[in-house]
Amino acid sequence: MPNPKLLRQIPDLKEGFAVRSATAQDIWTIRKLVLSELLDPTQLRWSQFWVIVHHREIIACGQLRNFPDAQELGSLVVSPHWRGQGMGLFLTQWLIQQATLPLYLECLGDRRAAFYTKFDFIPVSLSDLPQSLQQKFRLSALGKRLIRLPIHFMHCPIETITETR
Ligand SMILES: CC(C)(COP(=O)(O)OP(=O)(O)OC[C@H]1O[C@@H](n2cnc3c(N)ncnc32)[C@H](O)[C@@H]1OP(=O)(O)O)[C@@H](O)C(=O)NCCC(=O)NCCS
Repeated sequence: MPNPKLLRQIPDLKEGFAVRSATAQDIWTIRKLVLSELLDPTQLRWSQFWVIVHHREIIACGQLRNFPDAQELGSLVVSPHWRGQGMGLFLTQWLIQQATLPLYLECLGDRRAAFYTKFDFIPVSLSDLPQSLQQKFRLSALGKRLIRLPIHFMHCPIETITETR
Protein backbone atom coordinates (compact mmCIF):
# COMPACT_ATOMS: atom_id res chain seq x y z
CA MET A 1 0.00 0.00 0.00
CA PRO A 2 1.31 3.48 -0.77
CA ASN A 3 2.15 5.60 2.22
CA PRO A 4 -1.04 7.68 2.75
CA LYS A 5 1.05 10.56 4.05
CA LEU A 6 2.63 10.80 0.63
CA LEU A 7 -0.53 10.92 -1.42
CA ARG A 8 -1.22 14.01 -3.40
CA GLN A 9 -3.65 15.07 -6.03
CA ILE A 10 -2.48 14.67 -9.61
CA PRO A 11 -4.47 16.03 -12.53
CA ASP A 12 -7.16 13.73 -13.89
CA LEU A 13 -6.63 11.95 -17.16
CA LYS A 14 -8.82 13.13 -19.99
CA GLU A 15 -12.17 11.41 -20.54
CA GLY A 16 -11.81 7.94 -22.03
CA PHE A 17 -8.42 7.35 -20.38
CA ALA A 18 -7.79 5.49 -17.14
CA VAL A 19 -4.84 4.27 -15.12
CA ARG A 20 -4.94 0.80 -13.60
CA SER A 21 -2.59 -1.88 -12.31
CA ALA A 22 -1.64 -4.43 -14.96
CA THR A 23 -3.05 -7.92 -15.12
CA ALA A 24 -1.43 -11.15 -16.29
CA GLN A 25 -3.22 -10.74 -19.65
CA ASP A 26 -1.39 -7.45 -20.27
CA ILE A 27 2.11 -8.91 -20.30
CA TRP A 28 2.42 -9.36 -24.07
CA THR A 29 1.31 -5.81 -24.79
CA ILE A 30 3.73 -4.58 -22.14
CA ARG A 31 6.58 -6.63 -23.62
CA LYS A 32 5.80 -5.27 -27.07
CA LEU A 33 5.89 -1.67 -25.84
CA VAL A 34 9.14 -2.18 -23.94
CA LEU A 35 10.88 -4.12 -26.72
CA SER A 36 9.83 -1.61 -29.37
CA GLU A 37 11.84 1.05 -27.49
CA LEU A 38 14.83 -1.24 -26.89
CA LEU A 39 14.47 -0.80 -23.14
CA ASP A 40 15.73 -3.46 -20.73
CA PRO A 41 13.56 -6.51 -21.52
CA THR A 42 14.48 -8.36 -18.32
CA GLN A 43 12.51 -8.34 -15.07
CA LEU A 44 9.20 -7.39 -16.66
CA ARG A 45 6.76 -8.52 -13.98
CA TRP A 46 3.17 -7.73 -14.84
CA SER A 47 2.24 -7.47 -11.17
CA GLN A 48 4.60 -4.49 -10.77
CA PHE A 49 3.25 -2.58 -13.77
CA TRP A 50 0.72 0.21 -14.11
CA VAL A 51 -0.87 0.94 -17.45
CA ILE A 52 -2.87 3.75 -19.00
CA VAL A 53 -5.75 2.50 -21.09
CA HIS A 54 -7.81 4.32 -23.67
CA HIS A 55 -11.15 2.59 -24.06
CA ARG A 56 -9.47 -0.63 -22.81
CA GLU A 57 -6.49 -0.42 -25.18
CA ILE A 58 -3.15 -0.11 -23.38
CA ILE A 59 -1.40 3.05 -24.56
CA ALA A 60 1.32 3.40 -21.91
CA CYS A 61 3.06 1.37 -19.25
CA GLY A 62 5.51 1.80 -16.42
CA GLN A 63 6.92 -0.43 -13.72
CA LEU A 64 7.91 -0.06 -10.08
CA ARG A 65 10.42 -2.86 -9.52
CA ASN A 66 10.62 -4.00 -5.94
CA PHE A 67 13.88 -4.59 -4.14
CA PRO A 68 14.35 -5.23 -0.43
CA ASP A 69 15.63 -1.72 0.23
CA ALA A 70 14.33 0.37 -2.69
CA GLN A 71 12.11 0.57 -5.74
CA GLU A 72 13.14 1.25 -9.32
CA LEU A 73 10.99 3.19 -11.74
CA GLY A 74 11.44 1.61 -15.15
CA SER A 75 9.94 0.41 -18.42
CA LEU A 76 8.16 3.72 -18.96
CA VAL A 77 6.74 3.78 -22.47
CA VAL A 78 3.95 5.73 -24.13
CA SER A 79 2.80 4.26 -27.42
CA PRO A 80 4.11 6.55 -30.24
CA HIS A 81 0.63 7.58 -31.40
CA TRP A 82 -0.19 8.97 -27.95
CA ARG A 83 2.99 10.89 -27.20
CA GLY A 84 3.13 14.61 -26.50
CA GLN A 85 -0.24 14.64 -24.73
CA GLY A 86 0.88 14.49 -21.13
CA MET A 87 0.60 10.70 -20.73
CA GLY A 88 4.28 10.23 -19.84
CA LEU A 89 4.17 13.04 -17.30
CA PHE A 90 0.98 11.65 -15.78
CA LEU A 91 2.23 8.08 -15.51
CA THR A 92 5.58 9.11 -14.04
CA GLN A 93 3.85 11.19 -11.39
CA TRP A 94 1.49 8.30 -10.74
CA LEU A 95 4.36 5.85 -10.26
CA ILE A 96 6.13 8.24 -7.90
CA GLN A 97 2.92 8.42 -5.93
CA GLN A 98 2.70 4.64 -5.66
CA ALA A 99 6.27 4.24 -4.41
CA THR A 100 6.62 3.03 -0.86
CA LEU A 101 10.40 2.78 -0.65
CA PRO A 102 13.25 5.07 -1.73
CA LEU A 103 12.83 5.48 -5.45
CA TYR A 104 15.59 5.26 -8.05
CA LEU A 105 15.96 4.84 -11.78
CA GLU A 106 18.52 4.26 -14.44
CA CYS A 107 18.21 5.85 -17.87
CA LEU A 108 20.21 6.07 -21.04
CA GLY A 109 20.60 9.50 -22.59
CA ASP A 110 20.66 13.09 -21.40
CA ARG A 111 17.19 13.88 -22.81
CA ARG A 112 15.59 11.13 -20.76
CA ALA A 113 17.44 12.32 -17.67
CA ALA A 114 16.08 15.82 -18.33
CA PHE A 115 12.57 14.34 -18.47
CA TYR A 116 12.99 12.91 -14.96
CA THR A 117 14.42 16.11 -13.50
CA LYS A 118 10.93 17.56 -14.08
CA PHE A 119 9.94 15.34 -11.12
CA ASP A 120 12.95 16.43 -9.05
CA PHE A 121 14.89 13.25 -9.64
CA ILE A 122 18.54 14.04 -8.98
CA PRO A 123 21.64 12.34 -10.38
CA VAL A 124 23.43 10.00 -7.98
CA SER A 125 26.54 7.90 -8.28
CA LEU A 126 26.69 4.12 -8.08
CA SER A 127 28.00 4.27 -4.53
CA ASP A 128 24.96 6.33 -3.45
CA LEU A 129 22.58 3.56 -4.51
CA PRO A 130 21.11 0.98 -2.15
CA GLN A 131 22.97 -2.33 -2.15
CA SER A 132 20.45 -4.19 -4.33
CA LEU A 133 20.55 -1.54 -7.05
CA GLN A 134 24.33 -1.29 -6.95
CA GLN A 135 24.34 -4.94 -7.92
CA LYS A 136 21.73 -4.51 -10.63
CA PHE A 137 23.38 -1.45 -12.18
CA ARG A 138 26.97 -2.70 -11.94
CA LEU A 139 27.22 -3.57 -15.63
CA SER A 140 25.76 -0.21 -16.71
CA ALA A 141 28.18 1.56 -14.40
CA LEU A 142 31.02 -0.24 -16.14
CA GLY A 143 29.74 0.91 -19.55
CA LYS A 144 29.39 4.44 -18.20
CA ARG A 145 32.97 4.43 -16.94
CA LEU A 146 34.74 2.51 -19.70
CA ILE A 147 32.98 3.63 -22.87
CA ARG A 148 31.28 6.74 -21.52
CA LEU A 149 27.75 5.56 -22.19
CA PRO A 150 25.42 8.43 -21.17
CA ILE A 151 23.81 6.41 -18.41
CA HIS A 152 22.25 8.29 -15.51
CA PHE A 153 21.39 6.89 -12.10
CA MET A 154 18.78 9.05 -10.42
CA HIS A 155 16.98 9.29 -7.10
CA CYS A 156 13.67 10.90 -6.21
CA PRO A 157 14.35 12.24 -2.73
CA ILE A 158 11.65 11.20 -0.30
CA GLU A 159 11.38 14.73 1.15
CA THR A 160 10.62 15.97 -2.37
CA ILE A 161 7.88 13.39 -2.73
CA THR A 162 6.38 14.44 0.58
CA GLU A 163 6.57 18.09 -0.34
CA THR A 164 4.87 17.74 -3.72
CA ARG A 165 2.02 15.41 -2.71
C1 LIG B 1 9.60 9.63 -22.70
C2 LIG B 1 8.10 9.37 -22.94
C3 LIG B 1 7.59 8.37 -21.90
C4 LIG B 1 7.35 10.71 -22.79
O1 LIG B 1 5.97 10.44 -22.93
P1 LIG B 1 4.98 11.53 -23.55
O2 LIG B 1 3.59 11.10 -23.23
O3 LIG B 1 5.29 11.78 -24.97
O4 LIG B 1 5.40 12.82 -22.72
P2 LIG B 1 4.43 13.96 -22.19
O5 LIG B 1 3.57 14.45 -23.30
O6 LIG B 1 3.75 13.54 -20.95
O7 LIG B 1 5.51 15.00 -21.74
C5 LIG B 1 6.14 15.74 -22.65
C6 LIG B 1 7.44 16.20 -22.04
O8 LIG B 1 8.38 15.13 -22.12
C7 LIG B 1 9.45 15.49 -22.97
N1 LIG B 1 9.75 14.35 -23.84
C8 LIG B 1 9.01 13.91 -24.86
N2 LIG B 1 9.61 12.83 -25.41
C9 LIG B 1 10.73 12.62 -24.72
C10 LIG B 1 11.77 11.67 -24.83
N3 LIG B 1 11.78 10.71 -25.77
N4 LIG B 1 12.76 11.75 -23.94
C11 LIG B 1 12.78 12.71 -23.02
N5 LIG B 1 11.83 13.64 -22.86
C12 LIG B 1 10.82 13.58 -23.72
C13 LIG B 1 8.96 16.65 -23.80
O9 LIG B 1 10.02 17.51 -24.13
C14 LIG B 1 7.97 17.32 -22.90
O10 LIG B 1 8.59 18.24 -22.05
P3 LIG B 1 7.96 19.71 -21.90
O11 LIG B 1 6.63 19.48 -21.23
O12 LIG B 1 8.95 20.42 -21.04
O13 LIG B 1 7.84 20.24 -23.27
C15 LIG B 1 7.82 8.85 -24.38
O14 LIG B 1 8.42 9.73 -25.31
C16 LIG B 1 8.36 7.45 -24.64
O15 LIG B 1 7.66 6.47 -24.41
N6 LIG B 1 9.60 7.35 -25.14
C17 LIG B 1 10.21 6.07 -25.48
C18 LIG B 1 10.57 5.25 -24.23
C19 LIG B 1 11.44 6.02 -23.28
O16 LIG B 1 12.37 6.72 -23.66
N7 LIG B 1 11.13 5.86 -21.98
C20 LIG B 1 11.90 6.42 -20.91
C21 LIG B 1 12.86 5.38 -20.52
S1 LIG B 1 14.01 5.88 -19.30
